[in-house]
Amino acid sequence: MEPWLIVGAGRVGTQLARALFLRGLPLAGLVYRSAESQRRAASAVPEQLLLPLGALPQHERLLLAVRDGEVFSIASALAAQVGQGGLALHTSGALGPEALTPLGEKGWEVGVFHPLVPIPHPTHPPVDFSGAVVTLAGTAEALNAGEKLALALDMLPVPCSQLHWPLYHAAATLAGPMLYALIHAAKQELQRANFPAPMVPQALGALAQRALAYALQAQGWEHLTGPLVRGDRTTMAQHTASLTPPVAAAYEALASYVSSSFTGDVPCQGQMPKQAS
Ligand SMILES: NC(=O)c1ccc[n+]([C@@H]2O[C@H](COP(=O)([O-])OP(=O)(O)OC[C@H]3O[C@@H](n4cnc5c(N)ncnc54)[C@H](OP(=O)(O)O)[C@@H]3O)[C@@H](O)[C@H]2O)c1
Repeated sequence: MEPWLIVGAGRVGTQLARALFLRGLPLAGLVYRSAESQRRAASAVPEQLLLPLGALPQHERLLLAVRDGEVFSIASALAAQVGQGGLALHTSGALGPEALTPLGEKGWEVGVFHPLVPIPHPTHPPVDFSGAVVTLAGTAEALNAGEKLALALDMLPVPCSQLHWPLYHAAATLAGPMLYALIHAAKQELQRANFPAPMVPQALGALAQRALAYALQAQGWEHLTGPLVRGDRTTMAQHTASLTPPVAAAYEALASYVSSSFTGDVPCQGQMPKQAS
C-alpha cells in the first residue's frame, strides 16, 4: 500500500493516522491547520508525522478528513496547486465523490472512504476500526485504493455505486448518533423515575443490546415488544404525560412511525425469535 497523507487533524484524521501508525502501515503524515489541532494530535501520532498545510502539494495519495462543508473548497484549493495523476478520497458520508470534482478535473482518481463507526474524540479513547464497514465510492482506482486501506485496518469495505448520499447518511445518523440520543434520554428519565443510579447502565445495557439484536435479525416488526405491540394506548398516554416534553415529542414521533407500518401481528410464544449470537 502506498503511503497516505491524511488532511485534517480532527477526530477522524487523527484516529485513522494513529491506527495506521500503530499497525506499522505506510503513513506519509497528518496535516494540521491550527496549533491547537497540532498540539492535540501530538499525543496520538509521532511529531515528525505532523505536517503543516504547506506539505500538501508534494503528495499524491490524499485522505481528506475535514468537515463536509470544507471538502469541496479544500479540493478546489488543492487543484490549483497539484500536478496530474494523484488519488484523493474524502471521509464524509454526506457527500459523494463529486465533492472532489476539482481534483477529478485535474485527472486525479477521486472517491469516498466513509468509516461507519463513531469517532467521538481525536485522541481518547483510541478507536478500534476493526470489523467496521467502510462505504466506498468513486473511480475504479479510488475504489481499489480505498479497499486496500480498509483491509489494512481490518475493516469491511463495501463499494457502492449510485448511492443516495443524503439518505444513506441520514440512515447512518439514525443508527449511530440518534441511537446515542435515545439511550441518553432513557438514562435521564430512568434516574428521574428514582431507579438506582449505579444500576442504570447495566439495566439499559441488557435491555438495549437485546432489542438491538432482535431489531437487526427481524424482517419487520415481528420481534417488537412493548405497549405499541399490545395496542395499549392508556399506558402510552401515561408515558408521554410523565416524560420531559422534548423526550415525549421524540417518543410520539417514533410511535407514529411504528404505527404507520405496524400490522398488529403479535408473535405467539411458539414463534419467539431465537437469541442472537
Ligand atoms: N466523527 C465521526 O464519528 C465521523 C465518522 C465518520 C465520518 N466522519 C466524517 O469525517 C469528516 C471529518 O469529521 P471529524 O469528526 O473528524 O471533524 P473534526 O473533528 O471537526 O475535524 C475536522 C478537521 O479538519 C481540519 N481542517 C479543516 N480545514 C482544513 C484544511 N484546510 N487543512 C487541514 N485541516 C483542515 C480542522 O482543523 P482545526 O482543528 O485546526 O480546525 C479539524 O481538525 C466529516 O466529513 C465527517 O462527516 C466523521
